[in-house]
Amino acid sequence: MTRHDSQTRRTDIDRQWWKEAVVYQIYPRSFNDSDGDGVGDLQGITEKADYLADLGVDVVWLCPVYESPNADNGYDISDYRSIMDEFGTMADWEALLDALHERDIRLIMDLVVNHTSKQHEWFQQSRRREDGYDDYYHWVDGTPSEPPNNWESIFGGPAWTYDDERGQWYLHLFDPEQPDLNWRNPEVRDAVTEAVTWWLEKGIDGFRLDAIDHLSKSDAYPDGDPDSAIVGIEHFSHGPRLPEYLDELSAAFEGYDTMIVGEMGGADIEQVDDYTGEDGVDMIFQFDHMGVSVGPNGRWDPTQFGEWELTDLKEVISQQQDEIDWPALFFGNHDQPRLVSHFGDDETYRTESATLIATFLLTLRGTPYIYQGEEIGMTNTEFDSLEAIDDPMTVGIVEDLIADGVVDSYEEVRDLVDYQSRDHARTPMQWDDTENAGFTADDPWFDVNDNYDEINVESALADTDSIWHHYETLIELRHSEDVLVYGDYDLLLPDHDQFYAYTRTLENETTLVVLNWSDECSTFDCPSVPTADANVVVSNYDDTPSDPTGHAFRPYEAVVYQL
Ligand code: NOJ
Repeated sequence: MTRHDSQTRRTDIDRQWWKEAVVYQIYPRSFNDSDGDGVGDLQGITEKADYLADLGVDVVWLCPVYESPNADNGYDISDYRSIMDEFGTMADWEALLDALHERDIRLIMDLVVNHTSKQHEWFQQSRRREDGYDDYYHWVDGTPSEPPNNWESIFGGPAWTYDDERGQWYLHLFDPEQPDLNWRNPEVRDAVTEAVTWWLEKGIDGFRLDAIDHLSKSDAYPDGDPDSAIVGIEHFSHGPRLPEYLDELSAAFEGYDTMIVGEMGGADIEQVDDYTGEDGVDMIFQFDHMGVSVGPNGRWDPTQFGEWELTDLKEVISQQQDEIDWPALFFGNHDQPRLVSHFGDDETYRTESATLIATFLLTLRGTPYIYQGEEIGMTNTEFDSLEAIDDPMTVGIVEDLIADGVVDSYEEVRDLVDYQSRDHARTPMQWDDTENAGFTADDPWFDVNDNYDEINVESALADTDSIWHHYETLIELRHSEDVLVYGDYDLLLPDHDQFYAYTRTLENETTLVVLNWSDECSTFDCPSVPTADANVVVSNYDDTPSDPTGHAFRPYEAVVYQL
């Protein structure tokens, strides 16, 4: 692997630190267990602060660490101002913040305010109609046998549960343990702002806003299209008051030097810029590219999954690159299968395809997000029964498929689960080849992937040609080359079914990226780009010639050139 000397930094660019940052996402439960109880924790992350600094990342996004009964691993918050016991104490959290800041790494927290836990005191008071909390959630009259409408939960099953104590139905777009907050109530919005301000005052550097496309629902609760993959979604995504709510929320960040990224599972590419900018957030996770491998009924369509065309990926990514003001770049996260299993070849060409995807992630326009374990090429695992699954989404969807008669048993849907389950991303981080992959001294809360003796941080650090070192090189390159952050993106060879190639251009600087996204050799030829004077900046193979034209790219060969 080679790279060239860094260039002088330009001064004539409207810089933002969050545009130049590389983010590393941590799922605390599965990162590192410091106290031997089988669950990752805050001290465990602090122990790895040097590891993160060595990799070169600028920001850590911490998935929820607030108090929670863990119906959805922390995405069901029961107190916005405290730390879950299993993860440690507020003092541990402060020590983590200090350790990261000492290493020039910023910290953003997950903010889950579309819903709370049922155990949150707001819900407890609301179900008893107490103290002004009456209207904090979506409560609707009805008989216990008849939900108010046909809306379905994103986790499967109906989106309504009858609460005997209050004698009404409440809305939950996710698990029944996650009741949706009623954002129409200004007191709810004020309470959220107070929690946000509380954390900003503690010194955090921003938020990842969970599921914010669902904050506003249709005014009444009309039935949804019964043929939709998630019935009712047109009434509970991008509702009429969403821009207003985001504008109001963004006012809470004013005066703080923050980075705010919103998660919008259902936003079209065209919608993204409506929610960013001065009266919105800095960037949005848009998911179209994650859907290239799914069937007409979405992610959990058992009739079609796994096959995807490179030309489709090019089309979607290029549309994001061309049309979104500032993209949030990701190919995996805690809700997705492992990136190398999804978009690469996790067997024969694991290293080559993982480094190809890393090259892609870190040379596109936008802010790149690395999910824990991607830097060592962690792969999907296998689930031989429904009991082996922890994720409420996978369980709920499989139960629905069986109840609806789409499949008769788990066995029939197992291939889909082995392809799609969110649990693939939640197996513990593989630190070394000792028992439990060095993640914990006790039994881990969730099984470690069997391949930890081969795929682990210790061996990756020891091998200068490893996936880890490729990430390190690419992060360093991105930090030193403005063209990779701020340059224009131009797709080449849109119809080629093996090469994904593009240029990044900033005034007179041009970088060419050529990815042979295939397990077969192919010769590069793109007459519109003059390559005779090209230089190899980074390659995932040895002996890559400096001129790509006429070069037979090897399986998953990925090269960054300076033109
Ligand atoms: C999106 C989060 O990423 C996911 O993990 C969670 O289950 C849902 N939102 C509900 O909070």
